[in-house]
Amino acid sequence: MEIITRVAEMQARASAAKKNGQSIALVPTMGFLHQGHLSLMQEGRRRADLLVASVFVNPTQFGPQEDFASYPRDLQRDAELAAGAGVDWLFVPEVDDMYPQGFATAVTVSGLTEVLCGASRPGHFQGVTTVVCKLFGIVQPQVALFGRKDFQQLAVIRRMTLDLNLPVEIIGLPTVREPDGLAMSSRNAYLSAAERRQAPALIDALQLASAAVKTGERNVERVLALVRNRIDREPDAVIDYAVICNGTTLQAVPEVDGDSVLLLAVRIGRTRLIDNHTLFEEVDIP
Ligand code: PAJ
Repeated sequence: MEIITRVAEMQARASAAKKNGQSIALVPTMGFLHQGHLSLMQEGRRRADLLVASVFVNPTQFGPQEDFASYPRDLQRDAELAAGAGVDWLFVPEVDDMYPQGFATAVTVSGLTEVLCGASRPGHFQGVTTVVCKLFGIVQPQVALFGRKDFQQLAVIRRMTLDLNLPVEIIGLPTVREPDGLAMSSRNAYLSAAERRQAPALIDALQLASAAVKTGERNVERVLALVRNRIDREPDAVIDYAVICNGTTLQAVPEVDGDSVLLLAVRIGRTRLIDNHTLFEEVDIP
């Protein structure tokens, strides 16, 4: 595996590979890799001749009060893990090279970005879509892989790709979890031991909701009451949102149906965790 740090070099390498008829898969990340990221890389490996992963803690998707400065970083460990997952080129650009003096463009997806995490984190998704669009331009992948753990992010990136006719196939992959069900996340590193013990409340709540739906419950308020009660049992957990919405439009629904997804954002201490579940297990959205 090679580490490429310059934008111009990455783009030149990708162009040359494409000229040679090689296909490229891209896995964008912010690093501090875990098994969730590696599952995307392993699938990317199967889908293209060349596998590129990026590690870039993107400043434009963090709010002024958010954790850009303290976001965990460990490039040496990331490089070892990425090499083990079959990455050919690890693209690790500098902030100044991605956003040089005079940079003046943003990609905005409206609607989908105004709810849920978009409401709690203004500007976040514009930062995500702009950097992902840039990565697509630099790496020129035929296929890009994202986790369903960030359900709204995946929906927003699909919308952008469709709306801008970007020639990239977007693949969404299932959430990889710790043995106790906590969704893997680089931010789990922030949890104290006491907070970590409370974190499985999210998956518990999602499972309670799914079980209720399985036995015939369709009333959104009653399902959400189960979720809230479960989260509220944890002393340091505060719900940011618990919403049942349509998996494509992300609009709240009055009744649970086959396209419904339960999306959850919970603060445990200072750490914000997200998770989600489709409410009918046989349905796989998006
Ligand atoms: P990051 O949080 O590092 O996540 C990179 C990719 O890994 C995303 O597609 C995310 O959905 C996926 N992922 C994270 N945890 C996962 C898990 N437990 N199981 C499966 N997939 C998981 O998401 C971002 O970075 C950034 O916003 C980015 C898209 C790179 C743009 O800066």
